[in-house]
Amino acid sequence: MKLFQRAILTHAGAGSDPQNSDGPQSAAKAGMDLMSSGQSALDAVVHAVRCLEDDPRFNAGVGSQLRADDQTIQLDASCMTSDEKFGAVACVEGVQNPIDLAQGVLLHSPYILMVGQGARAFADEQNIRVIPLGGAAGKKAAEKSGTPSCDTVGAVAYDGKLFAAALSSGGLEKAALGRVGDVPFPGCGLFCGPIGAVACTGDGEFIAVKVLAREVYGWLEQGMSPGDVVQKALTLFDDAVDIGLIVLTKNEFASSARNGMAWSHLTEIK
Ligand code: GLY
Repeated sequence: MKLFQRAILTHAGAGSDPQNSDGPQSAAKAGMDLMSSGQSALDAVVHAVRCLEDDPRFNAGVGSQLRADDQTIQLDASCMTSDEKFGAVACVEGVQNPIDLAQGVLLHSPYILMVGQGARAFADEQNIRVIPLGGAAGKKAAEKSGTPSCDTVGAVAYDGKLFAAALSSGGLEKAALGRVGDVPFPGCGLFCGPIGAVACTGDGEFIAVKVLAREVYGWLEQGMSPGDVVQKALTLFDDAVDIGLIVLTKNEFASSARNGMAWSHLTEIK
């Protein structure tokens, strides 16, 4: 069996146009370049997600959906490593790259989740780089992006030692202010352990109640292949529910989505 030296998968969200796969491709390359230069899987997935947040075609960062009031953008992001570290932010406003705040929570706080103004204050205290995305500028960004109907972007990676996963979301189109989906909860949108990493995308309420990422990881623990688990995951939901996911182990990977999804992968064999 050939094992990966390093590997990374990226996706641009459930429902994203597969013709836009150049976005996740560039993100995967940026993440792999970091791992090749000795940085960790966590650094790789955070950087890959940051690239996707900077791409207005996808529903994260500059491409985020507007909330029900037609003017506010509230963002969720999370990251996790296979040594049980987790960091997330929810309902953050005025920030282009909430994934940087989520990584800050993982690395520099005793908490797993910070929300709203508290997350912004934490970023300031920790001198985390914050590119403003606010008010009219944020709204313009969302309008320019054509308010993409796709969902959360994500990445999973393996650096030869640890797995990591990261997600970032502009939320559901026209969602109520303060609504939070699956992204910032461990085991819901993402999960990592010693044998692999899972990142989900789609209708957050449905993903969260099934604790989908942890459920899928459990199937890997039982010996199922990534190819089989991504297919089985879709069968848990009615046809009307939009779902996609990417799964990585030490020697295999797979992706699946009900309504199409732009995604990409890069692997290096030992
Ligand atoms: N999957 C992202 C959300 O529902 O917010």
